[in-house]
Amino acid sequence: MTNDERRATGDGRLGAYEVLRPTLDTSRIRADFPILAEQVNGRSVVFLDSAASSQKPVQVLQAMDDVYRHAYANVHRGVYTFSEAATERYEQARVKIARFIGAPAAENIVFTRNATEALNLLAYSYGRHFLQPGDEILITELEHHANFVPWQVLAQERGLRLKFIPISPEGRLALDKLDELLTPRTRLLSFAHVSNVLGAITDPRPIIQRAHAIGARVIVDGSQSVPHMPVNVVELDCDFLVFSGHKMLGPTGIGVLYGKRDLLDAMPPFLTGGDMISAVGFDGPRWNDVPLKFEAGTPAFVEAIGLGAAVDYLSALDMSAVRAHERELTAYALERMSEVPGAKIIGPTDPDVRGGVVTFTLDRVHPHDLASLLDREGVAIRAGHHCAQPLHIRLGLSATARASFYIYTEPHEVDALIEAIYKARHALKR
Ligand code: ALA
Repeated sequence: MTNDERRATGDGRLGAYEVLRPTLDTSRIRADFPILAEQVNGRSVVFLDSAASSQKPVQVLQAMDDVYRHAYANVHRGVYTFSEAATERYEQARVKIARFIGAPAAENIVFTRNATEALNLLAYSYGRHFLQPGDEILITELEHHANFVPWQVLAQERGLRLKFIPISPEGRLALDKLDELLTPRTRLLSFAHVSNVLGAITDPRPIIQRAHAIGARVIVDGSQSVPHMPVNVVELDCDFLVFSGHKMLGPTGIGVLYGKRDLLDAMPPFLTGGDMISAVGFDGPRWNDVPLKFEAGTPAFVEAIGLGAAVDYLSALDMSAVRAHERELTAYALERMSEVPGAKIIGPTDPDVRGGVVTFTLDRVHPHDLASLLDREGVAIRAGHHCAQPLHIRLGLSATARASFYIYTEPHEVDALIEAIYKARHALKR
């Protein structure tokens, strides 16, 4: 059945969604994603786990395939045609990514393996070089482990104090506590722009302004925002921004650290070897310029080129339209979930302040049991603590279920989720 046919046979609710005039042509988009035509347990797959990792369009697969077939050789090393072609495509991807997030120059973009590695790079290089015993780092209770553990380790190692912005009863950051948490010893803030569990969107600007007013530096974790909404680093005035390629149509193994140039210049390298060295003698090495100073060894350049193609794809859709699409889907999902007996939404219920992530619990049903039963219906959701265990401790929950959306998600898939939840409850006699 085509998506248009699905819409035509949809129930009144789907009709209600239709009047909201979705901003993306999802039928056309879905045709670009071969995996969405797959069957799971004899049913069309309903993929609702894009917050963990997104699916990939043919344009990304082809961009990478094309390098391997026609322009593959190591970058920044050869003076022969293949090496020059691969280098040019790699550096062009850097330019595309810089434009995508409004960075002043390609040199502000450091390729890493993922957001986790970018955050570890910052903890290792910025944290170990610029923070002194007694300094304070402010993070939040809703961070995923990648923006939690590197700071815990650093704090333990260096005698720093790690503090947390708490969660409000609505499941947002309690920013009214910011003034008492910021002190003259606060040197660094790091927080998620969008929570991967609560879906809560935090406006980074007022936080950044207040942090800068006391001379602290700010890292924005854009893992769940850069793939889903317009993000401009100059407008935000953040010092650093991190995100992963695989959550935004790109391949695995490639992520981004954006940094202000003076900070990147002042930071020591993270890993050593390969392109990050400009010269080395028996008396010691000299480092390459930014950004290569932070890209040790042969970089994941084919993956970076794939991410460049992903950015082209998203730019053509327009990130405001992507956000509008996900906002409508989230509003629809929140409304439909509210009708399910025993279902409790975790996080804000206002779709204006919630990304395309609907996390919930179901009375007397363990999220893992639910996810397994949903899989029988071809519906893929994530269950567990979503790499945000401290948040779950704070919420008094060991696990939650999470459905998350992207550019290819359609309202009939929200309907399929709800229908599968009812079936699961029935199967479990709950
Ligand atoms: N942070 C990723 C997620 O939310 C792993 O699933």
